[in-house]
Amino acid sequence: MTRPRFTNKTALFFVTAAIALLATYLFWSFADQVKALLEQRMGSAKASPSADTIVSVIKLFLVGIVGYLFVRALNFLFFSLAFRLKRIDAPTLIRNIFTIVAFTILFLIAFTFLFPDVNLGALFTTSAIFGVILGLALQDTLGNFFAGISLQADRPFQVGDVITVGAQRHTGVVEEISWRAIKIRTFTNHVVLIANSNAAREPIEVSPRDNLNARLVLFNTLYTDSPAKTIHVVREAVREADNVSDKVTPIVRIRDLGDNGIEYEVKYWLDDYAKYNDTDALIRQRIWYAFRRAELNFAYPTRTLYVQRRPISAIRDGDGDAIIERLSAVDIFAPLSDEETTVLAHAAVSHVFAPGETVIRAGDPGSSMFVVHKGKVEVQVSENGRPRTVATLNEGDFFGEMALFTGEPRTANVLALEETEVLEIGHAAMKRVFDTNPDLVESLSFIMAERRQGLASHADSSAATSESSAGILSAIKRFFGLSQ
Ligand code: CMP
Repeated sequence: MTRPRFTNKTALFFVTAAIALLATYLFWSFADQVKALLEQRMGSAKASPSADTIVSVIKLFLVGIVGYLFVRALNFLFFSLAFRLKRIDAPTLIRNIFTIVAFTILFLIAFTFLFPDVNLGALFTTSAIFGVILGLALQDTLGNFFAGISLQADRPFQVGDVITVGAQRHTGVVEEISWRAIKIRTFTNHVVLIANSNAAREPIEVSPRDNLNARLVLFNTLYTDSPAKTIHVVREAVREADNVSDKVTPIVRIRDLGDNGIEYEVKYWLDDYAKYNDTDALIRQRIWYAFRRAELNFAYPTRTLYVQRRPISAIRDGDGDAIIERLSAVDIFAPLSDEETTVLAHAAVSHVFAPGETVIRAGDPGSSMFVVHKGKVEVQVSENGRPRTVATLNEGDFFGEMALFTGEPRTANVLALEETEVLEIGHAAMKRVFDTNPDLVESLSFIMAERRQGLASHADSSAATSESSAGILSAIKRFFGLSQ
């Protein structure tokens, strides 16, 4: 690839040089004729000095081109051939300086030769404009130039070293240090140019090519995996990987006892630092396989959960006793033993409602009943589209038993009148209670029959109450599968 490019460039150089030499030779030979022609065209005698000047400027231009090509040829001969013989790589910056100095000298010689009347020294020293132009236009260029010289003098890094420069932390292999910039090739094969003056200001991290540079690769294990075994397994896996220097044994050590597991780092030294991305990846791969063989485990996000079993009295912020007390004060639960009430309290779930919130909605299905623990609720039915309050229930009263015991939908709305805490008792818990206390069903059926009457606006007779109470009793027994 490089050979044809070199040949093309050389051929192009020779062709350009030949054309430039020919043009210069021809112009020089016909300079007098050109001058005469110009004078003739311009007409007046006053024009003769300017015709002279035009010819000299063209001559200077041509000499400049030839001079430039000559300096490049010299540069090539001197640095590429002579230095190559001695097997030294001439830094680009020195080649550039040589080119600039040689060309300037040639240009000045040609200038004095072609314009003997112009005093160059005076032109340079007295021209304020020249100073300003030089000062402003070349400010950056000169800054880079001198920073480049100091980089060459200090030699903090060389071509082939890996460096990291600047706030953006460009990392790559140094390819060239020119009079203007440092050229690095990043590991994604991009070329980054960093102006010398910037590089001189920024901190530069250098990993010299001929130095044993180290890298860190991180990994972790479960807390159940032995550190001694892990360290041994990983060290052996890593030391055999390509590009890991055998001059220093890799170090594996615990970095932290982390949230998710034991965090380790493996430090290894590279033969060729410029390939650290590949080597890091290879090492991670080796660790994976080594883990697999040694039955070690990478850590994953973990949390340790402490579950504490507390007595009933401590449940709900020490409210357990109050709940047992509350349930034993409910008239239908009065026949229950202390133990049965405690079991019921365990099964009860507390809910808090804000004033005005609906606890139960008429028509909804329901399979639990509630005891008012704190606060007050109102039982409402809708009559001709308007709510009618049927009852107000206070602490220790219960509701929601109708749907629970019959399996029918809720018969009324129940709303919290103030901030209210209710204890919800489900079907299963009630079944246990009925199994051990079948008499409860009877007292319940009476209460429910009474409530039914309250719901029906025109119902009144007590005969109807006892009738429907008997009906409810057998309905409950059927629903709960109790003997009739
Ligand atoms: P349930 O039908 O499950 O849902 C609405 C509840 O309101 C109902 O059970 C009873 O607990 C309650 N309820 C209905 N009517 C009355 C009443 N007259 N007095 C007290 N509570 C009632």
